[in-house]
Amino acid sequence: MSTVNVVIGASGGIGQAMVKALAQNDSDRPVYALSRSAVAEPDWPDNVVSKVLATDDEQAISDFCQQLKNQGHRIHYAVCTVGMLHGEVNGNAISPEKRLEDLDSEQLLTYFRVNTLIPTLWLKHLVHVMASPGVLACLSARVGSISDNRIGGWYGYRASKASLNMMLKTAAVEYARRAKGTSLLAYHPGTVDTGLSAPFQGNVKPEKLFTPAFTAQQLIKIMARLTSEQSPYFIDWEDQVVSW
Ligand SMILES: NC(=O)c1ccc[n+]([C@@H]2O[C@H](COP(=O)([O-])OP(=O)(O)OC[C@H]3O[C@@H](n4cnc5c(N)ncnc54)[C@H](OP(=O)(O)O)[C@@H]3O)[C@@H](O)[C@H]2O)c1
Repeated sequence: MSTVNVVIGASGGIGQAMVKALAQNDSDRPVYALSRSAVAEPDWPDNVVSKVLATDDEQAISDFCQQLKNQGHRIHYAVCTVGMLHGEVNGNAISPEKRLEDLDSEQLLTYFRVNTLIPTLWLKHLVHVMASPGVLACLSARVGSISDNRIGGWYGYRASKASLNMMLKTAAVEYARRAKGTSLLAYHPGTVDTGLSAPFQGNVKPEKLFTPAFTAQQLIKIMARLTSEQSPYFIDWEDQVVSW
C-alpha cells in the first residue's frame, strides 16, 4: 500500500501554496491537487497530480475516495482549504455582516454550504481512506471560536466556521474508532495575503500579514507533530491552542 497527500480546493491562495510545499517537502509522495477548475500555470513540482473535480459534490467526493482505495492508496495528509468570506454566488453579492440588520437567510445558507457542509462531506468519505498515522486538516478560523468571540460581527462566517469545528469535534469520536491513527485539525492560519482576505487587510500590520508560502510551511510543520491520541486539535499558525 502506498500513501499520498491530498489538497482540496487547490486553486485558492493557501491551496496552491499547500500543494507546492507538500510536493517539495515530501517529494516521494504524489500530491493530488483537487479543484473545481483547472489551476492556471501553477509552479508545481512533477509529483503533483492535478485533478479537476467537483469538490462540492458528494458523488464526486465518494468516487474519488473509492478510486484511491481501489488503487491501493491511503492518505497521509488531507488538507481541505475550501472556504469563503466574500464574493458572488448565483448573482448575489456576499459580504460579511456588520450588524443584525445585515442578516440574510440566503447569504447565511451560502456560508454554511461552503464553509461547513463541503468540508463535512469530505470528513464523511475520507474516514475510509486515511492512512495511519495521518492528518485531516480543515482550514478553519479563530473567529469560529465561540469562547473567543469578543468583537462580534461576521455572523455567517463565524457561525459556519464554529459549525465546521463542531463537525470535526464530533467526527473525532468516530474517527478514534474507525480511523484510529488519524489526527483531525481545525487550523487558524492567521491573516494570509489571498483573495479571501484582500478587502479586510487594512488594519493588519505588515508583519502579521502572512504569505501563502509561509502559511503552508507552518501548517506542514504542525501536522508533522500531531498524534491521534490528542485529536481533535484547534491550533493557530504559531502552534498555539485556540479555545473552541
Ligand atoms: N486568507 C486568510 O486570511 C484566512 C484566514 C483564516 C482562515 N482562512 C481559511 O483558509 C481557507 C483558504 O482560504 P484562502 O485565503 O486560500 O482563500 P481563497 O484563495 O479564496 O481560496 C478559497 C478556496 O475555497 C474553495 N471554494 C470557494 N468557494 C467554493 C465553493 N462554492 N465550492 C467549493 N469550493 C469552494 C476554492 O476551491 P477551488 O480550487 O475548487 O476553486 C478555493 O481553493 C478558507 O477556508 C478560509 O476560510 C483564510
